[in-house]
Amino acid sequence: MAFRSSLEDEKIVIRAMTEADYDGVRRLWMSIRHLGIRSIDDGRESIGRFLRRNPGISVVAVRENEIVGSILCGHDGRTGCFYHVCVKEDFRRQGIGSRMVRWAVEALNAEKISKISLFAFVDNVIGNDFWRQLGFRRREDMFNYEWQLNKEDITSFNQ
Ligand SMILES: CC(C)(COP(=O)(O)OP(=O)(O)OC[C@H]1O[C@@H](n2cnc3c(N)ncnc32)[C@H](O)[C@@H]1OP(=O)(O)O)[C@@H](O)C(=O)NCCC(=O)NCCS
Repeated sequence: MAFRSSLEDEKIVIRAMTEADYDGVRRLWMSIRHLGIRSIDDGRESIGRFLRRNPGISVVAVRENEIVGSILCGHDGRTGCFYHVCVKEDFRRQGIGSRMVRWAVEALNAEKISKISLFAFVDNVIGNDFWRQLGFRRREDMFNYEWQLNKEDITSFNQ
């Protein structure tokens, strides 16, 4: 996996996300173009539940008290997953996304997780370049199936 050795901006701290970070992370999500936000699953209560179920493995990048990057990271005891991997637009191409991924990979590794799975929209050119550059393998041999249990959990995409 290819990572920069250091962040260009030394004021950036990469650390575990806590429930107290919710407002800052939510602000970041709302600033990310085309990010899909779920009405229930991305709410404070659901994210708190997600973080309590997966303690210490989601990550934020913080600069002077502002959250400028985050990854929701979880696992089911077998496979790790990443959601809402994002970096604030003004702070991109400085290695923050890569450093957050490395942090989360190390956290999953410490929990003996062997594989990570994530979704990227086909038309997300930057996102797909990012994963390719990090060495993530794109599966061409599968379809993604889903079943909506709660029809009230609506996804809205940012403009
Ligand atoms: C994808 C994203 C998280 C990358 O964050 P970042 O902090 O800019 O990433 P890095 O600086 O660590 O970039 C690592 C490498 O990814 C690739 N990359 C990142 N942004 C790229 C871009 N705009 N165009 C082409 N390649 C890019 C490059 O190879 C880059 O290395 P380099 O800068 O040495 O060339 C950020 O662009 C983002 O938040 N995008 C919107 C949300 C999103 O699409 N998330 C992914 C969902 S699957």
